[in-house]
Parts: sequence; structure tokens; C-alpha cells
Amino acid sequence: MSDRWTPDSWRAMPIQQVPEYPDAEALASVERQLASFPPLVFAGEARRLKRELAKVATGEAFLLQGGDCAESFAEHSADNIRDFFRVFLQMAVVLTYAGASPVVKVGRIAGQFAKPRSAPMEKVGDVELPSYRGDIVNDIEFTAASRIPDPRRQLEAYRQSAATLNLLRAFANGGYASLGNAHQWMLGFIKDSPQSGRYQALADRITEALDFMRAIGIDPENHPEMRTTDFFTSHEALLLGYEQALTRVDSTTGDWYATSGHMIWVGDRTRQADHAHIEYCRGVKNPLGLKCGPSLKPDDLLRLIDTLNPQNEPGRLTLIARFGADKVGEHLPALLRAVKREGRTVVWSCDPMHGNTIKAASGFKTRPFDQILKEVKDFFAVHAAEGTYAGGVHLEMTGKNVTECTGGARAISDADLKDRYHTYCDPRLNAEQAIEMAFLVAELLKQERAGRARPVIEAAE
Ligand code: PEP
Ligand code: CO
Repeated sequence: MSDRWTPDSWRAMPIQQVPEYPDAEALASVERQLASFPPLVFAGEARRLKRELAKVATGEAFLLQGGDCAESFAEHSADNIRDFFRVFLQMAVVLTYAGASPVVKVGRIAGQFAKPRSAPMEKVGDVELPSYRGDIVNDIEFTAASRIPDPRRQLEAYRQSAATLNLLRAFANGGYASLGNAHQWMLGFIKDSPQSGRYQALADRITEALDFMRAIGIDPENHPEMRTTDFFTSHEALLLGYEQALTRVDSTTGDWYATSGHMIWVGDRTRQADHAHIEYCRGVKNPLGLKCGPSLKPDDLLRLIDTLNPQNEPGRLTLIARFGADKVGEHLPALLRAVKREGRTVVWSCDPMHGNTIKAASGFKTRPFDQILKEVKDFFAVHAAEGTYAGGVHLEMTGKNVTECTGGARAISDADLKDRYHTYCDPRLNAEQAIEMAFLVAELLKQERAGRARPVIEAAE
């Protein structure tokens, strides 16, 4: 890899997971149009997220990252965005309050459209067609015409990302996210759910605390940190032509930024050190994520860290462990030790979704809630044993009452999956399961914080 980087230097590298566009000129024309469009996010916002993530790296804050596996054009509506956002806010408030930790909020949203696939072709009966690669590339419908990559879909993805971001900014800053609304974030269908009493009690305590503050003369209305929230966007930087077109120089620093989202990550299938996706990501100054699966060896990880974060800048790199409930104990310790030994500052986050996908007897792809939870618990346990910070969780979730993951307090069964199985790609936690998970993670976080008192005592001996 040469030191010289340009937004298109990835084009000279080997690359995985590229769609085969039949019309190269149409693709080039779309990329030219995208390059002339305004940025979706600003460099200053990405820098702010990096500063927040730097606090996560040192154990002063916790990262909550989540959203759809794949956003879709068909499900683009204000209701869906609002439902996602309020469940996300509820989770964040649970983690902040019960876990007593500031929470950095990052959605898999407003750009999460491109999907890596394990197989280039999909077979149904005797018919074999190219796999669906996300709405930014082709259509999920199983017909030959639908599966042909169409570059115009990138323009639609840009439009949807801009509209989604616009609404999210309004929700985050326009009063909806005010802590005084913690009760209103309860969704209709959650009111009778097993989690509702717990959440209600927590929202009551927040209301009491706000009343108390008002009584002593601190009006939350005058304090932006209680009225508004910082919410950031993220997605997998998979479709590099699209990313390149939205790569811009920040006029205040002269640095390059991906302006398609605040944080971008490299998936487990495209993280080869000398390949295109790593090449693209190393040159932009955004906070980056790197998915770490079972095939990643400690030496390869250190090499990737050297490439992606040569200055060891805190907050630059989030390592997203996604091993599977039965593998995290086997794989994570060696990676933690290698990173610690080399003095690398990273955020360690746990994606308990992608290593726990199974095919249910009904034929649906699902993820058992207990396995998801087990991976998170083991992740925390390994960090406690190694003296490192369990910095965050990365979840596939939705604000809707879908039936895609089994288990949870309502014990969704294999037979229930067919009722509301709506995902465009992987199975997501539904709103109830997501909030339940937030309560369980908050418990782990609280224990972790309590455990941290110990090294201080040991140091004093
Ligand atoms: C994803 O996050 O949707 C994904 C495909 O993850 P991974 O790269 O970890 O498989
Ligand atoms: Co997924």
C-alpha cells in the first residue's frame, strides 16, 4: 500500500463484494451527479463524535449503536423513523440512568443501504439469480430484472438519507428528545409489555429529578443538554463509488471526510488489509468502525490498526467484536491482549447479532435473544478479566413490533416468526426486545463500574 491516498486510490486495489453494473457509463454519470450534491454531514460533527468516542475508549462513556440491518426504500416513512428514534432514546436513557454512564448515540441509519452477501447468487427452487445487495444496489424481489444492479438507486439512497437525517436532526434538537418527554417516548404497544413497568418507574424518577432541579432554580428548558441530544449516523462503507462521490475536503482543516454519515465501518468480509475498503477508509478522518469476526488473527488486527489509526488517535477506531455467543471467550482475549500490549487506544464494542444467526425449523433466519445476551455477557466478562473496557454495543433493532428474533420477555417462538417478519436482511430485535436488552446491558455496565473500584485498592497495596 503506497502512502499516497486519494479518494479514488481504492480503485487500484483488489476488492470484494462489488456489484456488477451492466452499464458503466450510467454508473459514472450517477457518481458525477452525487459528487455535485451537498454533503449529508459536516466534518465538525464527525470530529465531535470522535471526541465523544475518545471518552468511550477511556471508560468515561458508553457507545450505543443500532438500527436496521438494511434500510429499505419501501419502509421510508416519518412513522418508522420516529418509532426507531424513540426506542433508541429510551434505550439510551435506560443506559444513562441505570448504567450511570453518558451514552454516545449512533444510529445505523440515514445511509445503511449496501449489504455484503455470503453468496453472490441466491437459489429458490430451480431458479438462480444474483443476490440482493441492499436497496442502494438492486431490488429484493426475486426476479431477474429486479436483481440487476441499477446505479440510479444510489440517487434514491442519497435522497432518503438526506430526508431521514433532516427528520432526525429535528427530533434531536427540536424538543422531542427533551428528557422531560421521557414518558412520551413509550410506544402504544409497549405500554402493556413486560418492560413497561420498569421503564415507567425509570421515567418517573427522571421526572422527579427534573422537578427537583426546577425547584432549586435550574430550568431544564434553559439547558440544552436536557432539551436536545447528540445523535450521530453510521453505515457500512461498502459501496465505494458512492462513498467516493461524497468524500469532500473540509475547508477548515483541509482534511478529507466521508460526508455520507458521521461514522463509517468496514465489514467482516471486506477488511483485508491490502484491499480497497481499508484503503478508502484510511484516508478519511471520520471515526471508523472495524468488524472483528472469528477469522481475524491478532497480528492482522494490529496491522489493520496501524493502517487505519497510525497516530493512535483516541476515538478514531471502534473495534466491533462479532464472534457468536460460543466463540467470544475463545477469540476475544487474544485480540484484547495484543491491542493492550501495543498500547493502542480503541473503543471495544460488541455486536452480538452477526455471530448468532441461525435458520429456524420454520425456515426463517433468526437470532435467539438468549444467545444475543450471552454474547454481550461474555464480552463484558472477558473485558473484566483482561482489565479493559467493554465500551459499547452494536445492535440490529427496529422501533416496530416485528417478530424476527426469538425469545425475550414475550417469548417469541419459532412459530411466531411468520407473523411480522419484515426485515430486508438480518433479523432485528423488536422495540420491546431492544429495551429489554438495554436494561440487561445497563446491569452489566453497573457491575463493571462497581468492579472498577478494585484496581484502585490493589494499586494502593
Ligand atoms: C452488518 O453489520 O450488517 C454486517 C453485515 O456485519 P458483518 O460485516 O459483521 O458481517
Ligand atoms: Co446485518
